[in-house]
Amino acid sequence: MMAGNWKMNNTWAETVVLTQSIINNAPDDWDEVDMVVCPPLVNLKAAFSVIEFDKAPIAVGAQNVYWEDSGAFTGEVSAPMLAEIGVSYCIIGHSERREYFGETDEMVNRKLKALLASNIAPIVCVGESLAVRDSQTHIDFVRNQVRAAFAGLDASEAAKCVISYEPVWAIGTGRTATPEQAQEVCFAIRSLLADEWGSDTAEQVRILYGGSVNVGNVDGLLAQQDIDGGLIGGASLDATSFCALAQACLK
Ligand code: 13P
Repeated sequence: MMAGNWKMNNTWAETVVLTQSIINNAPDDWDEVDMVVCPPLVNLKAAFSVIEFDKAPIAVGAQNVYWEDSGAFTGEVSAPMLAEIGVSYCIIGHSERREYFGETDEMVNRKLKALLASNIAPIVCVGESLAVRDSQTHIDFVRNQVRAAFAGLDASEAAKCVISYEPVWAIGTGRTATPEQAQEVCFAIRSLLADEWGSDTAEQVRILYGGSVNVGNVDGLLAQQDIDGGLIGGASLDATSFCALAQACLK
């Protein structure tokens, strides 16, 4: 799976151009890799219009959701609203939302359950800060984040989720985790899933890596046993590099 987190980038017109350019540059056997683009909420429809017109096998994801279905929650958007326009994935718990918008583990858990109730696959982001890594407690830290996000789920619900391991110190810094560092944590996540919900479920959950992924480092990351794809920030804003990253999944 190769997912692009566009963050707060691109106008409506730019979304149309980038989506079309991704379709034009996509690998020949693109239906064998789950390509997902996650534009800002206001531009989800713009991405859809291009994808639907070209009948392209690319899914559209949102970057945020609120856990109530409707009501007096000014500025928020609900899972049923996203589902109705065809959104099939939604990023939750991204470190930028945790840091700048106060998203807590409990909120991530509520959002996750709301998404599953609307048949939208959550892409749950977890990852430690540099201080936590330096204190060598990153494995426990990340496993606790996963435990909290997945609290109360049964195995069939857990299996529908995607987890993205994104060490905060590697996001937008150009300093990517080494394949071994990423694998260590992704393996720890999969072991936790196996302990809680069984090994079949643990195998079904896709675990992505995110943080300064580019065409130069993607092969080493994807070669790791427990890394099933990438969640890409900066490099997903360029069609050629995003498509090259999708192509790397097919090797
Ligand atoms: P960069 O790829 O720009 O480091 O961002 C990663 C990220 O935050 C994906 O969600």
